[in-house]
Amino acid sequence: MSHQHNAHSSTHYDVIIVGAGASGLYCALTAGRRGRRVLVLDHANKAGKKILMSGGGRCNFTNYFVEPEHFIGSNPHFCKSALSRYPSWEFIGMVAAHQIPYHEREHGQLFCDDSAQDILTMLLDECAAVGVQVRLNTQIDSVQALESLQISDKEDKTRFQLITSKKLNKKDITTDAKPSQTRYSCTSLVVATGGLSIPTMGASGLGYELAQQFRHTLIATDASLVPFTFTDKTGELIRSLAGISLPVIASNERIAFKLPVLFTHRGLSGPAILQLSNYWQTGETISINLLPDTDVTALLLAHKKSHPKQLIRTVLTDNTDGALPKKLLAALQAHLWDDIKDTELANIKDERLVELGATLNGWQLKPSGTEGYRTAEVTRGGVKTDEVSSKTMQSNLQEGLYFIGEVLDVTGWLGGYNFQWAWASGFVCGEIV
Ligand code: FDA
Repeated sequence: MSHQHNAHSSTHYDVIIVGAGASGLYCALTAGRRGRRVLVLDHANKAGKKILMSGGGRCNFTNYFVEPEHFIGSNPHFCKSALSRYPSWEFIGMVAAHQIPYHEREHGQLFCDDSAQDILTMLLDECAAVGVQVRLNTQIDSVQALESLQISDKEDKTRFQLITSKKLNKKDITTDAKPSQTRYSCTSLVVATGGLSIPTMGASGLGYELAQQFRHTLIATDASLVPFTFTDKTGELIRSLAGISLPVIASNERIAFKLPVLFTHRGLSGPAILQLSNYWQTGETISINLLPDTDVTALLLAHKKSHPKQLIRTVLTDNTDGALPKKLLAALQAHLWDDIKDTELANIKDERLVELGATLNGWQLKPSGTEGYRTAEVTRGGVKTDEVSSKTMQSNLQEGLYFIGEVLDVTGWLGGYNFQWAWASGFVCGEIV
């Protein structure tokens, strides 16, 4: 290849970051602070769209308690180095320095008081302050690795060439205008394109395609932090209870979460379900303990002795350790013990009470699937981390190529962990590019 990639032309950058989302912007401002010439490219018409829609518009930007156990991925150790070098208080410090009001919710989750826009504005201001350029509406047409050693001067080392074109708006398309292409070159190329969730917000598979272009292995991707759907008879029951929320323990063989569940007109949602979805494989049964603070079998058997004339629904309604919402109780009764609903406890066999107790303390449900990428908060799977440096996020296969954020096979729990991973991986990369 000739030297048409003139390192001194205005289109050469030390660092080009593809993706102006959470990790890309954080990497950009970190590299910019070190005096690197940084360009961020994004095909969307706005930077940080997912930041804006996150946390119900208030952005759960991090968590006070960040541990590697809050993350999943095929290599559970990969996230440790970046998370320990960039703890959550670093980000909290930046938020405080920008005088952004925030508050703590349960489980150490930190949210903006006002709006997620505060976080995006902070990131863009920090980028602008150190001369980072952000170019939106830019489509990446191709990425090519150059023979990096063609240029001996270290400062001018050009490793990648990108060809981009401006995304056409509707008016341009009708006038048959051809988008003009722009050629960029860079020393370090950072892939920060995120996952596949919410395609309408700019999600695309470009990061995975680039990974494959450079011979990286992909761990199969799937929608995660996502509600479950049901097609069987139980599904009808669940949908008929739409709107009901209650604290439960949602579990499978690997993990259990004591959090609220929400019945919806599509299936089950709420924090307990979203958390469990990170650990769920298609075809698996899940267990919902509807009365997590009550041993229902023991309760029913004890009442059979002490109040033999009582009905099951009375025992469950009077239970002070957690009464089921009335509508749920009525629906469960119709579903589980309709034949003995008016029978006194004394006349119900112990085995039946034991069986019922076991069901209420561990309702076995088989989701038919999830709501998918349309509503998922994250994509699990992605670029295999064994082929990436956990200290710098640099590819082990292609010098100068980096992967940060959600495109990697690192997925956090609900609660600000996915942003913390975006900041931390963006930071350690920005320190080295
Ligand atoms: P991110 O998605 O932020 O950025 C990727 C960027 O790449 C986008 O700007 C996109 O346009 C761009 N891009 C993609 N393809 C491209 C292409 N082909 N060409 C050019 N650019 C391209 N997490 C959390 O910790 N707390 C929370 O409160 C929430 N809430 C939340 C709500 C909802 C509805 C969703 C969908 C997600 C969350 N998350 C969250 C998850 C969090 O938003 C997510 O994990 C991070 O934004 C990931 O950061 P990245 O930088 O990896 O990708």
